Amino acid sequence: MQKKSFDDYYRPAEDTFFLANYIQNEKGSTALDIGTGSGFLAKILSDNFKLVVSTDINFNALKKAHEIVENCICCNAADALNCNFDLIVCNLPYLPSDQIIDPAVDGLTEGLDVTTNIIKSASNVVKQKGKLVYLTSSLANYTELMKRTESLGFSIKIIAKKKLFFEELVLVECIKL
Ligand SMILES: C[S@@+](CC[C@H](N)C(=O)[O-])C[C@H]1O[C@@H](n2cnc3c(N)ncnc32)[C@H](O)[C@@H]1O
Repeated sequence: MQKKSFDDYYRPAEDTFFLANYIQNEKGSTALDIGTGSGFLAKILSDNFKLVVSTDINFNALKKAHEIVENCICCNAADALNCNFDLIVCNLPYLPSDQIIDPAVDGLTEGLDVTTNIIKSASNVVKQKGKLVYLTSSLANYTELMKRTESLGFSIKIIAKKKLFFEELVLVECIKL
């Protein structure tokens, strides 16, 4: 995962493409891309979903995303939303860090604080039997993150892993029970 300055936005990278590959065949009525960055994943979702909403806390990112997708909302995770989604995707800011210098990647303690906050928020707006797909990494304590996700009422499984030079990407699929 690359480091970017906060004024900037996260450019689609290997992690983005890895997640994109797994969501391109998903279909449904409503989808949400949390932490949309450039809007790359939301754009892919818009091929197969009637309504796609994108959120990010970085307004600069949303300005970029708005060039290619509609319904861009600046907020924490899904906190501003009052509707339910068939599918929620998130390429999480999972890197362990002492502080948040770059919100695109910094996830605080063991990469768990920010990611848990996002998943909790997502769990409030996913439909029953709906799906949450998130990307995390061997650099984070992803087994603990999966336990926390399960405790929010999801059945979860790892659907893919990909080894990079310095980390292993981990793609997790969660179904709301
Ligand atoms: C790893 S980047 C992924 C960007 C894009 N989805 C992609 O895959 O290329 C994580 C994104 O999450 C956003 N983000 C971080 N914390 C967030 C939060 N609490 N709520 C919403 N977005 C957040 C960052 O600004 C950044 O755009």
